[in-house]
Amino acid sequence: MNKEALKDKIVIIDFGSQVTKLIARRIRELHVFSEVLTLKDLKKIKIFKNIKGIILSGGPSTVTKNSYPKIPKEIFDSNIPILGICYGLQLIAVHFKGKVKSNTKKREFGRALLIKSKNSLLTQGIFKNNQCNVWMSHQDSVYTLPKGFICTASTKQSKMTIIENKNKNIYGIQFHPEVTHTQNGNIMFKNFVFSICKAKKQWKVQSEKNRIIQEIKSKVKKDKVICALSGGVDSSVVALLINKAIGRRLKCVMVDTGLMRKDEFKSTYKIFKNKYKLNVSIIDASKTYFKKLKNVTDPEKKRKIIGKHFIKIFEKEAKKFKNVKYLAQGTLYPDIIESRSATGSKTSKIKSHHNVGGLPKKMNLDLIEPLKELFKDEVRLLGDAIGLVKNISRKHPFPGPGLAIRIIGSITPDKVKILQEADHIFMEQLIKNNLYNKIWQAYAALLPVKTVGVMGDSRTYEYICLIRAVISEDGMTADYFSFPKNFLDEISNKIINRVTGINRVVYDITSKPPSTIELE
Ligand code: XMP
Repeated sequence: MNKEALKDKIVIIDFGSQVTKLIARRIRELHVFSEVLTLKDLKKIKIFKNIKGIILSGGPSTVTKNSYPKIPKEIFDSNIPILGICYGLQLIAVHFKGKVKSNTKKREFGRALLIKSKNSLLTQGIFKNNQCNVWMSHQDSVYTLPKGFICTASTKQSKMTIIENKNKNIYGIQFHPEVTHTQNGNIMFKNFVFSICKAKKQWKVQSEKNRIIQEIKSKVKKDKVICALSGGVDSSVVALLINKAIGRRLKCVMVDTGLMRKDEFKSTYKIFKNKYKLNVSIIDASKTYFKKLKNVTDPEKKRKIIGKHFIKIFEKEAKKFKNVKYLAQGTLYPDIIESRSATGSKTSKIKSHHNVGGLPKKMNLDLIEPLKELFKDEVRLLGDAIGLVKNISRKHPFPGPGLAIRIIGSITPDKVKILQEADHIFMEQLIKNNLYNKIWQAYAALLPVKTVGVMGDSRTYEYICLIRAVISEDGMTADYFSFPKNFLDEISNKIINRVTGINRVVYDITSKPPSTIELE
């Protein structure tokens, strides 16, 4: 057993809540490793020695039905501290013979005021004047305390909001401390992880670097790896890590679709080739892409064409690299959590995201996914640790189909050029005003509706440029960024004065949901 595998960790058992992965993040922010497991994964665990605590997540199931997902009884008897959140609390309650009721009249969604009734290790330091704002999302409530438990805090709607059995080290909370709307949620996690579980701070993403490089070395041995490099954070970190492990036996392919940001792709290529000395080639496929996308207006069709053609080019290039055995991908932890359902239910498909996930089957390559245990911001820190330049490691996410889904309707080289210019000005201004790193994702889009304007003494009839900037934690939900008025004035002026083809600039003030981050 390697030493790393025995470091203290907190296990989160996923009952299907939308925010389970935030729990894992909150724990890792405390420098303790945490992983999300399904009930099926849990059965496979043989060594419990390094598991310092178990968190039972929320989820859509109800313990008021005859059958519901539960953890094995042995875990409750194991003496490992347990924290149940929402559904997790209800599970604890019924296991210890408390009662849970579904109450449509007393549903609680959104903010609620939590009132302290007893001191507790779990809630130490979260209250001010015995009160604290929390975020609720439930219909079922505990209404009879389980045996051996006490209640330490309540809201108006649910009396048993926080319960505990200190002797057994079992705690349950009805609200969600993992979401930022809950005041001091991080203090509750700190209390659970350190005061209750006694876990040690042993995990830092930067120190994962050597472990990952070592793992790549022992997996790949003398074989070769191929990687589609986009110049985004994930594929860049993957390429650098593998390059450190196996040098030129890694071949990177950059496919220029012509739908990237202004000048960005070629300059990124130069950085990889000259600064990091990667074995990388760039394929200019822009002409073919414009041809294939001519008169295509449907967003999903655009995505399919772009994805399919990308695979073709990549395959052709890969064939030139003889005896390649592995395909490297920048899969992240949220992709892994989201692709295996905790409850068996499938969420409806909103958009088909383009990535190279379809490649291995056809090409018969094994996968290498060095980032599959990390969150996006952890990948950025890992990027810093391996010397990735900040303008790549802090780059905003950029969709695979690129500007094709930021130009509504059909794509032409002219429209792409207009949009690249506008987007470039927007990015320049964000950086100049120290706003770029405060925003999760920002971009300009082209709405090819012509409207009338007046410049000098002449009438103009040109396109609308939409600018979008959002704050978010993981792209699943987002809110628009509040720019000061003078920044918006400046952007509008600069874009209209410098980009022929645009005579109106609008700012998108919708959040996600109901909108998505991209327009298509
Ligand atoms: P939405 O628009 O679904 O976007 O709110 C969430 C995040 O995903 C990115 N996105 C894509 N990424 N291929 C990608 O690789 C796509 O087709 C795609 N569509 C959206 C989007 O930029 C945001 O970061």
